[in-house]
Amino acid sequence: MRDQKNIDVMENTSEQKEVIIEIKDLYKTFGDHKVLNGFHMELYKGENLVVMGKSGSGKSVMIKCLVGLMQPDSGYISVLGKEIKNLDRETLDVLRSDIGFLFQGSALYDSMTVRENLEFPMRRHKEKFGKIKDTTPLVMDALESVGLANTIDLMPEELSGGMQRRIALARTLILQPKIILYDEPTTGLDPITSKEIIELMRNIQIKYGTSSLIITHDVDCARVISDRMILLVDGINYVEGKYTDLIQSNDPKVEAFFKK
Ligand SMILES: Nc1ncnc2c1ncn2[C@@H]1O[C@H](COP(=O)(O)OP(=O)(O)OP(=O)(O)O)[C@@H](O)[C@H]1O
Ligand SMILES: [Mg+2]
Repeated sequence: MRDQKNIDVMENTSEQKEVIIEIKDLYKTFGDHKVLNGFHMELYKGENLVVMGKSGSGKSVMIKCLVGLMQPDSGYISVLGKEIKNLDRETLDVLRSDIGFLFQGSALYDSMTVRENLEFPMRRHKEKFGKIKDTTPLVMDALESVGLANTIDLMPEELSGGMQRRIALARTLILQPKIILYDEPTTGLDPITSKEIIELMRNIQIKYGTSSLIITHDVDCARVISDRMILLVDGINYVEGKYTDLIQSNDPKVEAFFKK
């Protein structure tokens, strides 16, 4: 048996919920460094699932395996009902247009305006957007969703760090993704800007009904945004449950996350 504790097993709701992402028995080793050691995860439709783990615990590795940017040593990963391993490049690319990423330190293209930054993913996904002649309404809609419609003709260097993060989020939204993967969405931002980003993430979930996987160190972010949480410790999903349940745990490895 794996050393995993279920504090709250979704109150028997898992049968009724649609599974959007499923990860089973995920292993990834670099040399003799075992990073993922049998990780499991399910993301249900419409939920905000937060994965927390200390620095170097393998959160980004897990998310890279999930989107096919990194090959796991073994394990099963399916996204929107398709097993990643079996997909050819073209199908993987189409699937990726349903997945928005806000990657750790996700940078805008410095030499492009905000508009060009947002048009870029649409050009990449011609199968979804090829027929659209005028992209302006989509660009404006995405910018309005992050409250920055007035920046359309600016260059990234003219924007603050928080604004750049919001534009990166707008660039993700423009693909109208079914799933959004956030890797450390609030890192490097001051507390007020972090709060704004978290609020934006909530609004996006409400407006578009997206399912989100949020990787964060930020306990406040987890508290506000999570419907459910997984703590990644020693390469496994060490514990799962609601924030309010996890903070009451007496397990030292769990308590360590919530100590200020
Ligand atoms: N391409 C790689 N080659 C070798 N080792 C790697 C590679 N990518 C990640 N690692 C190692 O895997 C471990 C997990 O890395 P990962 O980036 O997933 O951590 P993380 O949990 O995202 O940390 P952080 O919170 O700092 O972002 C680290 O020890 C890292 O050095
Ligand atoms: Mg990381």
